[in-house]
Amino acid sequence: MTLPLPASALADQAPDGLFVETVTSVTHYTDRLFRFRTTRPGSFRFRSGEFAMIGLLAEGKPLYRAYSIASPAWADELEFFSIKVPDGPLTSRLQQIRPGDGLLLRKKATGTLVLDALTPGRRLYMFSTGTGIAPFASLIRDPQTYETFEEVILTHTCREVGELQYGFDVVRETLADPLVGDYARGKLRHYATVTREDYARRGRITDLMASGALFADLGVPPLDPTVDRGMICGSLAMLQDTRALLLAAGLSEGANSAPSTFVTERAFAE
Ligand code: A2P
Repeated sequence: MTLPLPASALADQAPDGLFVETVTSVTHYTDRLFRFRTTRPGSFRFRSGEFAMIGLLAEGKPLYRAYSIASPAWADELEFFSIKVPDGPLTSRLQQIRPGDGLLLRKKATGTLVLDALTPGRRLYMFSTGTGIAPFASLIRDPQTYETFEEVILTHTCREVGELQYGFDVVRETLADPLVGDYARGKLRHYATVTREDYARRGRITDLMASGALFADLGVPPLDPTVDRGMICGSLAMLQDTRALLLAAGLSEGANSAPSTFVTERAFAE
């Protein structure tokens, strides 16, 4: 198996028309999850919440996957949050990257988990499971999120407690950040739950919504389409089940071309 190449070697071998970026830091959270950051090309533009195609050379050929950009649109570096799939064609290689290695980045970012795809409202829910937190890690670090909404509720559900750590780190960094901290303080709320280990809050977010526990815990009224907006990112099954609850509450699904009261996107899968 080919290992990641230093950025200069990758730049020599990469096809034209791509960015070749340099990895600046890598943090392994669990044996299934890691975060990494890269340099950002000066001309690479995106909206907070969008995804990009990133990749490596595998046996000499470029291999890409769609990854949500976890850093906000204003940041100097790009951040990504990834699973490690043991036999995954990309992630089995990507989990070996180290600072100084190169990463391929296609020139265009896109996606539906953007503020522009929602109609005006007061309270924004971001429902995530697993690596589905990545686009929200971008949006909670964007001051525009707090200019658009009075209250921002980030829910993150994982199988195990250790998988919640990235979310805790990003929320802490957000509140301490000189640029966005003042916007986020008093508005950003983090609701973390676990399904397969003992933890203070247990259960799938869908069950916690259906039982009313989520709203009781937060001290907010049940979902109301006149004030509440939603974004959902997780597995296909999680999207379906969460979507059904939002539809039942009277919200409707939107897109960039037709903004509405909630939007969905599948979390990274290999
Ligand atoms: P559970 O442990 O009960 O399956 P995964 O890694 O499989 O994507 O799961 C991440 C988290 O999402 C887990 O806590 C899992 O709960 C939860 N989850 C899986 N499927 C659904 C679903 N259909 N609706 C809500 N949460 C789900």
